[in-house]
Amino acid sequence: MTDVFMKTYHRLPVSFSRGEGAWLFDVQGRRYLDFGAGIAVNCLGHGYPPLVKAIAEQAARLNHVCNYYQADVTTAFAEKLVGACAGMRRVFMANSGSEANEGACKIARKYSLRKYGPGRHRIVSLQGSFHGRTITALSATGQEKFHRDFGPFTEGFLFVPPGDIEALAQALDPAVTAALLLEPIQGESGIIPQSPAYMEAAARLCAERDILLMVDEVQCGMGRTGSFLASEAYGIQPDVVTLAKGLAGGLPVGAVLAGEKAAEVLESSDHGSTFGGNPLAAAAGLVVLDRVTRPEFLAEISRKGEKLMAALRDRHHPRLKELRGRGLMIGADIDGEAWPVLEAGVARANASPQGASPGGASPEGLLLLSAGAHTLRFLPPYIISDAELDQGLEILWELLA
Ligand SMILES: Cc1ncc(COP(=O)(O)O)c(C=O)c1O
Repeated sequence: MTDVFMKTYHRLPVSFSRGEGAWLFDVQGRRYLDFGAGIAVNCLGHGYPPLVKAIAEQAARLNHVCNYYQADVTTAFAEKLVGACAGMRRVFMANSGSEANEGACKIARKYSLRKYGPGRHRIVSLQGSFHGRTITALSATGQEKFHRDFGPFTEGFLFVPPGDIEALAQALDPAVTAALLLEPIQGESGIIPQSPAYMEAAARLCAERDILLMVDEVQCGMGRTGSFLASEAYGIQPDVVTLAKGLAGGLPVGAVLAGEKAAEVLESSDHGSTFGGNPLAAAAGLVVLDRVTRPEFLAEISRKGEKLMAALRDRHHPRLKELRGRGLMIGADIDGEAWPVLEAGVARANASPQGASPGGASPEGLLLLSAGAHTLRFLPPYIISDAELDQGLEILWELLA
């Protein structure tokens, strides 16, 4: 492994060079079944033919224009995305989830300043949340471990414990609060869904107090939980939605969308991004949107998610404790540390071919994710087959043994 990279990532000892469907292949050609989809990014798997074709054709046609102009493909993508997000009217295209949340925070601050004057700039978010790594997205992130060493932070953020409606009602003081930012299902902290009662209360309190309800759907959106947005399943209407990760199925793009209340807040020169809504990402995003807005495609995500959840629950592995999640976004608390299970999933592909598949090839590896020290996180690509889910579960049982 090279050591030219800054030491930001705790990486597993494998380097990939190719992917196909729900499989990744390392530089030695060994196969790994992908139960993580690049942390919810490769939602249509690897090398999905319509996605490859769209990117290749777009690459030959147009890669970039600056924001002095529009590009046909980015306009088509933006229109389709706004149409897919119920109640949203306008979108700003960014490159990542952090940037999308930065945009949301700017919208909140300006909305409140222009309507109520200075002093009403608090943004409430949840303990255990994860909103990104830029300074303001970190300021909104309710996990102390990410804050160490990087202060001072953007001021005006207040964290509340998830699930505590009383604490939320107190924190959402309308004299000083511009917005509430929350993940309907917290991803990085262990797949923690908010309860319906909590989401309903959050939506009601925000509406009554003219506080923007901003949902971070960077990880749980784009069909991941079986509805286009996870917030839809709660029956609430956010004022602002942020998306990224699966939005272009593997190309970098982020988006912040705003509905009636906040769609006109950002005006000329208020915000910008050189690469946001890049034509290659937009071409890919159109393919993803075409799939994840089809009810029958979303129903398949739900069905596969229920199958995975039922298998994890019903096979009763003694090391598997609590299970949480929805659709193909599942967290399983385990007895012991999660990381060694991830290591074993990779190492399995390195094992000697003894007892391996015909032809003497090494056994398949299994790519898993963790979320916190003791939680395994399952975010497989939507196109994974039932047989592949079963195969992954067999391997998982072996790894947990
Ligand atoms: C809910 C949520 N918001 C924001 C982010 C940050 O996204 P990015 O890494 O694209 O900046 C993430 C990344 O994991 C996330 O899960």
